[in-house]
Amino acid sequence: MNNQTIIQTTGLTRRYKTLVAVNKLDLKVPAGSVYGFLGPNGAGKTTTIRMLLGLITPDEGTVRLFGEDIHTPARLNLLRRVGSLVEMPSLYLHLTGRENLEVTRRLLDADKKHIDRVLSIVNLTADADRVTKGYSLGMKQRLGLALALLNEPDLLMLDEPTNGLDPAGIHEMRELIRSLPQQHGITVFVSSHLLSEVEQVATHLGIVRKGNLIFQGTLEALQAQRPTYLHIGARQPEAAATILQKTGWQVISQNGHVNVKAASEADAATINTALIKQGIDVYHLSLVQPSLETIFLQLTGEQPEQTETH
Ligand SMILES: Nc1ncnc2c1ncn2[C@@H]1O[C@H](COP(=O)(O)OP(=O)(O)OP(=O)(O)O)[C@@H](O)[C@H]1O
Ligand SMILES: [Mg+2]
Repeated sequence: MNNQTIIQTTGLTRRYKTLVAVNKLDLKVPAGSVYGFLGPNGAGKTTTIRMLLGLITPDEGTVRLFGEDIHTPARLNLLRRVGSLVEMPSLYLHLTGRENLEVTRRLLDADKKHIDRVLSIVNLTADADRVTKGYSLGMKQRLGLALALLNEPDLLMLDEPTNGLDPAGIHEMRELIRSLPQQHGITVFVSSHLLSEVEQVATHLGIVRKGNLIFQGTLEALQAQRPTYLHIGARQPEAAATILQKTGWQVISQNGHVNVKAASEADAATINTALIKQGIDVYHLSLVQPSLETIFLQLTGEQPEQTETH
């Protein structure tokens, strides 16, 4: 099972009139991964998830779950293996947590033992017999997750599960998501508009912007997109940039300071010596590793290149 691709889409496209909400997405979600599906508001995350779940039909492209096309007669058998939480869970607020689970359990014809199992996974055992009207948002969200886990899914799709939660709720949801592949063998596909919410749990990332997949890979691969650079403060920044370019260094940006692609302290020392020899007054040198957040914001166009912080 471990080399299997759990979700694979090819050329997945969905339009709303003239708007291309999702454009030719080729997603690949490996078994056992937590796949963080990231993008700013309106990027096409929910539209994609709805297509993955067969809730809306793509205009073009295909979705394969567990290696099989979801537009085949086998579709129901495939979707039976998927749990999902898209937007707020719909709960019967006058019923207890346990009773809410019981309603869904009967619909699914699942074994009764699963109720205690999922309550324990989401840490709601102690509150199971309280009426859900009195639940906090985080508890409701966890009950939604419990509902999604009732049918013992192999794949869980979560659309912004931490939306509206306080930091403690976010932390709890994150820990829960992290435990699912390891302890329960579940592959998790989770969307968010904040990198910070998934970077601690995701093994793989897909980043969408205006319907297009602009990055897919591991966190390390994302980090490698923006290598370490040397931030140089000099009294004559333009002359310094010219000298460095002439000696073969790659100047990334220049705006009162000079940023040069460089990876080591040895590079920094070489550059420093070269500049001083040419009469440049260097007053600052630092090696900078761009944070994942900076890379993410730049990729999604929410932070311009030149204002990169260091
Ligand atoms: N039913 C619809 N009719 C018309 N346009 C739609 C519909 N659903 C989505 N869209 C548009 O498609 C684009 C993608 O929307 P989608 O909800 O998939 O984005 P999202 O990434 O989930 O955003 P958010 O972070 O706000 O949830 C948006 O421009 C949205 O306005
Ligand atoms: Mg959405």
